[in-house]
Amino acid sequence: MCGIIGYTGEKRAAPLVLEGLKRLEYRGYDSFGIAVVSDSDLWVWKKRGKISQVNPPVLRRKGRTAIGHTRWATHGEPSDANAHPHTDCRGTIAIVHNGIIENYASIRRELEGRGHTFRSETDTEVIAHLVEEHFWGDLLSAVRAVLPQLEGSYAILAVAGGNEGIVAARKESPLVIGVADRACIAASDVTAILEHTDRVVYLEDGDVATLLPSGPTIWHGGEQADRPVRKVDWDVAEVRLGGFAHYMQKEIYEQQSVFSSTVRALYAEPIPDVLKDFSGITLVACGTSYNACLFCQYLIEEYCGIPVRAEIASEFRYRTPPGGDLVVAVTQSGETADTLSALKQARMHNHPTLAVTNVLGSSITRLADYTLFMRAGPEISVAATKSFIAELAVFFYLADVMGGGRLRKSVLSGHEAIGEALLQDISPAVDLCRGAQSIFFVGRGPFFPLALEGALKMKEITYIHAEGYAAGEIKHGPFALLSHKTPVIALSPPGETFPAMVSNIREMKARGVPLIVIGDGNSQELRDIADVLIPLPDGDMVSAVLGAAVLLQLLAYRTAEALGREIDQPRNLAKSVTVE
Ligand code: M6R
Repeated sequence: MCGIIGYTGEKRAAPLVLEGLKRLEYRGYDSFGIAVVSDSDLWVWKKRGKISQVNPPVLRRKGRTAIGHTRWATHGEPSDANAHPHTDCRGTIAIVHNGIIENYASIRRELEGRGHTFRSETDTEVIAHLVEEHFWGDLLSAVRAVLPQLEGSYAILAVAGGNEGIVAARKESPLVIGVADRACIAASDVTAILEHTDRVVYLEDGDVATLLPSGPTIWHGGEQADRPVRKVDWDVAEVRLGGFAHYMQKEIYEQQSVFSSTVRALYAEPIPDVLKDFSGITLVACGTSYNACLFCQYLIEEYCGIPVRAEIASEFRYRTPPGGDLVVAVTQSGETADTLSALKQARMHNHPTLAVTNVLGSSITRLADYTLFMRAGPEISVAATKSFIAELAVFFYLADVMGGGRLRKSVLSGHEAIGEALLQDISPAVDLCRGAQSIFFVGRGPFFPLALEGALKMKEITYIHAEGYAAGEIKHGPFALLSHKTPVIALSPPGETFPAMVSNIREMKARGVPLIVIGDGNSQELRDIADVLIPLPDGDMVSAVLGAAVLLQLLAYRTAEALGREIDQPRNLAKSVTVE
């Protein structure tokens, strides 16, 4: 959930670490801090709030090694004291950490009993004090001595005044090392490294590394370990705003190319063996990825006749997937803790596993038997948009290859519908939503998961209460909430669900709701009844689904913009949820 970065090289480190933190701020933005090391000294500066709000004095320090952290609070409120880096009693060792030290309370009691003084409420601070007890000039040895005492997950960077370089360690929290010209950069993800290099090393669980300007040396279980240097195919331009007001807007407008790159890349590969021998599919995911899985359930059952269940990853441990099921974990980041746990559980029960992710080298790729990659490029906005479209692209591909090729033509031209949706004027719908206290999103069949996703996007970035419902279900209770103050967004494409949707729409309209229909633009009936009708792109189910998904994203984005919200970093959230 937090972002960590460290630089050691020939340049002044603090400004580079601060730039890196700005790139990582989407991982958490309660507070941030930097530690800079020189020949003999260590300076630490940390502050509650977002990075853009201040110009840290630590930038004046000339050291060529620094570490930094941007926080999403787990242990202790967002405050200057709880911000990382954390230091030992003497202030000579500094630690940044992403993850959770589960046994920190007992360690802290023991350390306090031995006379250590704590300054924060965090779990992380125990690491600094433990390292202090083992540090006699060799930081690598001290960190290695401490790690066996830590239960939980961590990506750690440690520095000490007068000590050359950075010591890094990883267990179940992402950590990537960039290998640049006379510099080494470690970070929670590659977006913070791309400014320096596209050559990276992904640390494995249990790895400890020393980072020097000449490169990393990695250790595993007491032995030196060889880890391949890989080339990242993301471009630094992809992590810049490039003239857009927000990353979310940029990412919505990238979706045509994201969709076609993803399907083209998938069709270019041989069909994975893991897709050939199973009796059913269980999908596990969280949030937006889960909504995509719910859609997949309708799609695969319809086109392939294979039973499919979509499970919220954090609930998976309380369910038992049928024997013979292929378990598919879907996660943009590849680091979502609940999804990783669900996949581990599936492996424990000997299910074949497939990961669908956007991030090369992410934790999920190491766990699954096989991985299908989306080609969404880096997604920076906390609200997932282009990764949702990329997930739909993967599912359309799967339904097509497992269902005998019936969808191929529609899938290969799906990007056109996205382009059409992006051109729609949705201003009248935004005007109806921006003053609302509560909004209902409804759909039937494959459009029900889209209604859920539309509601998630709306609440996440506008802070307006929003709920998604199966349209037929809304009169079984939620009807009590409907009034002229509760706009309804109804997804009503042409086809099988149309007549029943029109009946549901009439029932809701009779309760006085402001009615926005995203649906069949040729229907006079819809034109007569809707306060605002946003036409879906002409075409088949694939076009209607993609068009509706994009229109719902635009509606949330434009409403949040009208309300002046912090769109890319909504309150209380973080991009990658690496704690259960
Ligand atoms: O990286 P993941 O796809 O595993 O993330 C899952 C959810 O945390 C994520 O989709 C979240 O719901 C989005 N920020 C919503 O826009």
